[in-house]
Amino acid sequence: MNIRFGRLEDVESILLIYNQGIEDRIATLEVEKKDMEYMTKWFNGHTERYRVFIAENGGEVIGWASLHPYSHRCAYSGVGEISVYVRRDWRGKGVGQKLLSALEEFAKEQGFHKLVLGTFPFNELGQGLYRKMGFYEVGTFKKHGQLDGKWVDVMWMEKLLL
Ligand SMILES: CC(C)(COP(=O)(O)OP(=O)(O)OC[C@H]1O[C@@H](n2cnc3c(N)ncnc32)[C@H](O)[C@@H]1OP(=O)(O)O)[C@@H](O)C(=O)NCCC(=O)NCCS
Repeated sequence: MNIRFGRLEDVESILLIYNQGIEDRIATLEVEKKDMEYMTKWFNGHTERYRVFIAENGGEVIGWASLHPYSHRCAYSGVGEISVYVRRDWRGKGVGQKLLSALEEFAKEQGFHKLVLGTFPFNELGQGLYRKMGFYEVGTFKKHGQLDGKWVDVMWMEKLLL
């Protein structure tokens, strides 16, 4: 398995993996599957310090991670927000760890001092990954969003890179 920057031709695989995350109802408040137009726009929104990372095995994309702005205010330019999605058949096999390690290395080089993310408290594999990578809980927004008509809490986690 190797980790590299994403390319436009990866968008179809990125979309497939993201839609699996949406279907599984453990990763995001999104409930409608996305299409190529949406995902291409999303991909093209990553420029300069903000990048998409791809885990590739035997020429196949098996996971991705993204580093995107936490806030567009200059005061927060050192804080990056992240997302990670691994293809269903590859979860729990170390792909998330490899993606986050590469992302973190890049983020340090780019002068970020902190990474943050929002996750559902019931996403056990996600929690396992983030805690293993040194993230800790900042706090939990209660009833922060609706998922299929039910309130869900969203936990924020962070990791200082300094
Ligand atoms: C969450 C996700 C990104 C994690 O990536 P992954 O490749 O599956 O995770 P890894 O295999 O790298 O596991 C990392 C650590 O989590 C822990 N872990 C593994 N299985 C676990 C489980 N069933 N429950 C809790 N923790 C677990 C372990 O500490 C593991 O490290 P170790 O195997 O060296 O001990 C991935 O499962 C995924 O894409 N899930 C669906 C989408 C999603 O939830 N994205 C995150 C949104 S916040």
